[in-house]
Amino acid sequence: VTAKSLALSEVMTKACDFYRQQLRGADRAIQYLKKRGVTGEIAARFGLGYSPDAWDSLRAVFADYGASALAEAGMVIDKSDDEGAYRKRYDRFRDRIMFPIRNTKGQVIGFGGRILDQGEPKYLNSPETPLYQKGLELYGLFEARQAIRDAGYALVTEGYMDVVALAQLGFPQAVATLGTACTPTHVQKLLRQTDHVIFSFDGDSAGRRAARRALDACLAHVNDNKVIKFLFLPVEHDPDSFVREYGADAFASEVQNAMPLSQFLIKEVSADNDLATAEGRAKTQFEAKPLLQQMAPSALRLQLVRNLAQITQSTAAEIEALFELSQ
Ligand code: UTP
Ligand code: MN
Ligand code: MN
Ligand code: MN
Ligand code: MN
Repeated sequence: VTAKSLALSEVMTKACDFYRQQLRGADRAIQYLKKRGVTGEIAARFGLGYSPDAWDSLRAVFADYGASALAEAGMVIDKSDDEGAYRKRYDRFRDRIMFPIRNTKGQVIGFGGRILDQGEPKYLNSPETPLYQKGLELYGLFEARQAIRDAGYALVTEGYMDVVALAQLGFPQAVATLGTACTPTHVQKLLRQTDHVIFSFDGDSAGRRAARRALDACLAHVNDNKVIKFLFLPVEHDPDSFVREYGADAFASEVQNAMPLSQFLIKEVSADNDLATAEGRAKTQFEAKPLLQQMAPSALRLQLVRNLAQITQSTAAEIEALFELSQ
């Protein structure tokens, strides 16, 4: 750890403590969290806070509000006019519910800030910094680590509120990718913690696209020891809204019925293709090829090859030759 990143982590820790303390007197913010069903206990567990409705509230925290570390940490924004003549600095996060993002050591490395009620952007996030690289970090992983071990699986969601609501209602094994696509690095990180991962994205079209990208991100890292599944919620729901509306038992049964990766892959490559025609079967093989090519030789890959052979009226040997699959 360099001296610079130490300074950054100090900035993040101090800001986090300040926002938590600010939440105590912030009636509007507390009302908002109550309206969303968030209990005080769960807010404390995730270190939720509030950034005051002011341009420079971090002046109260940092004796030197002009310090370069504040900008490097992404906590303030520096503005100059067209000629670069004057510079003014202001807090990035104002009048928002603050979600601290921690690394696996528990250090605060970034924030997500949700607007109270309506407005754009709904969430404002820390920029990438030497401490915080979005493709590497999963929101809630630090808090979820023991629960993932206890449950025997991890739930991967899209959002801050999904993680918080699931933890509150009995699924503390949830983490989130935070709007960025699930990367192969995310998958690797998760598979170091558990042999069983269940993706549970929003039911809308963005969530379905996220599931497809997660499938792609998984292929290079699956092996015969791992189970990866996809849970598809009704279109109008995300895990937060679903578990709050229908309860923990209903969500548990969705978990129980989640679709294995193998089934999702076959569904994806055959979607919109008419398997009753040679063209539809050929297109299915064409779409499957780049996916299976990412997989290491394994019993699971062989099962997929056989499954694909069956629905495309081919043999496993033909598929392996056509896809140039090494053994
Ligand atoms: P969603 O739009 O599904 O939001 O984005 P949400 O998590 O359900 O939020 P609530 O329930 O309305 O509070 C999923 C995730 O994408 C990122 C956030 O990480 C969010 O949790 N996102 C979304 C942003 O970073 N910025 C945005 O403006 C919107
Ligand atoms: Mn297991
Ligand atoms: Mn969404
Ligand atoms: Mn959502
Ligand atoms: Mn939501």
